[in-house]
Amino acid sequence: MYPDRVVSGMRPTGAMHLGHYHGALKNWVKLQSEHPCLFFVADWHALTTHYDDPSIIESSTWDMVIDWLAAGIDPSQATIFIQSKVPEHAELHLLLSMSTPLGWLERVPTYKDQQEKLADRDLATYGFLGYPLLQAADVLIYRASMVPVGEDQVPHIEMMREIARRFNYLYGREKDFEQKAQEAVKKLGAKRAKLYNELRSEFQEKGNDDSLAQAKAMLDDAQNLSMIDRERLFGYLEGSRKLILVEPQALLTEASRLPGLDGQKMSKSYGNTIALRDDSDTITKKIRTMPTDPARVRRTDPGNPDKCPVWMFHQVYSDQKTQDWVVQGCKTAGIGCIECKQPVIDGILKEQEPMRERAQQYLDDPSLVRAIVADGCDQARKLAQETMRDVREEMGLSYN
Ligand code: TRP
Ligand code: SF4
Repeated sequence: MYPDRVVSGMRPTGAMHLGHYHGALKNWVKLQSEHPCLFFVADWHALTTHYDDPSIIESSTWDMVIDWLAAGIDPSQATIFIQSKVPEHAELHLLLSMSTPLGWLERVPTYKDQQEKLADRDLATYGFLGYPLLQAADVLIYRASMVPVGEDQVPHIEMMREIARRFNYLYGREKDFEQKAQEAVKKLGAKRAKLYNELRSEFQEKGNDDSLAQAKAMLDDAQNLSMIDRERLFGYLEGSRKLILVEPQALLTEASRLPGLDGQKMSKSYGNTIALRDDSDTITKKIRTMPTDPARVRRTDPGNPDKCPVWMFHQVYSDQKTQDWVVQGCKTAGIGCIECKQPVIDGILKEQEPMRERAQQYLDDPSLVRAIVADGCDQARKLAQETMRDVREEMGLSYN
């Protein structure tokens, strides 16, 4: 019924590193050519944990957007925007909050986890509890069908689906729904109407998911249907409610195989990162001084790649031939560690060269970035306003 939109956001944490690239951004770059994509800076989400020091949010936002562009997010394919510039997210968050059971929010695993992890902050706040609900508003407001996220975010997507379902249940009732739906069926034309009714009863009586999918595809193709009739027919397939909000699916992003320089997870707080826009000297130095298998004290000591973080980098950056060379050379002390690291350095520099180039034009002229984001905000706002018009109407708030 709605285009298979993809929505995802990141909190502005400043310059991005290779872990972000291999864990999320590279996937976004791929998705933008396959689906309509909306990618946004979740600056309000940053406030839920950094409300006492919001000063870094602004510069982090611009740095992050430059990194997205550098990594290959293409503003002619994807919409790039900033959450707080589309205040409709907040309106939907508020309206959803009225009917969201507290228990749903308290039960989200990240709620307790993060409070324990960030014990130095007071996260016993209303805003922090509402984090997943704000996230639900971010996605539902675009009627997105897919949300690329890491594993930790999957419970948030599950909750989003429940929120959408509950909203449709509460506000998708319509007087004479059945009759209006049947009138809409007739508007499909005789042949399609017959098929619709058949598929609908196959789904409702036998739970046949294929029939449901087939009926949905048919509705997608059907011309001459008003938006509202289309919503009715989608809702009528599954029950007796209009579908006002769409239940999105998590698109699970595989965890990055790239660790930090010391073999732990790459993270700014561990000081083990390579930033996307580190210059080539810095990168070379960082890899050269990276720890290796501690058993290789002398050049003549054989080592074991499985005990060496450099090997994990080879698995991301090197071809099979180079990998064989590493394993063989390491185990027999045939190569030295500095020698072994060179292909990794070359691989990272090669990957980052186009990124540095793309970033440079935006660093030289920051007004380009402002213009891209302003444009993206306009596009996003238009879509968000459409949904809010429907939401207000269904909730009985469109009086003037
Ligand atoms: N919670 C996400 C994270 O910490 C960021 C986020 C906010 C998000 N809103 C979103 C991700 C909407 C996907 C969709 O990574
Ligand atoms: Fe690590 Fe390579 Fe040295 Fe072996 S040779 S310890 S894989 S850097």
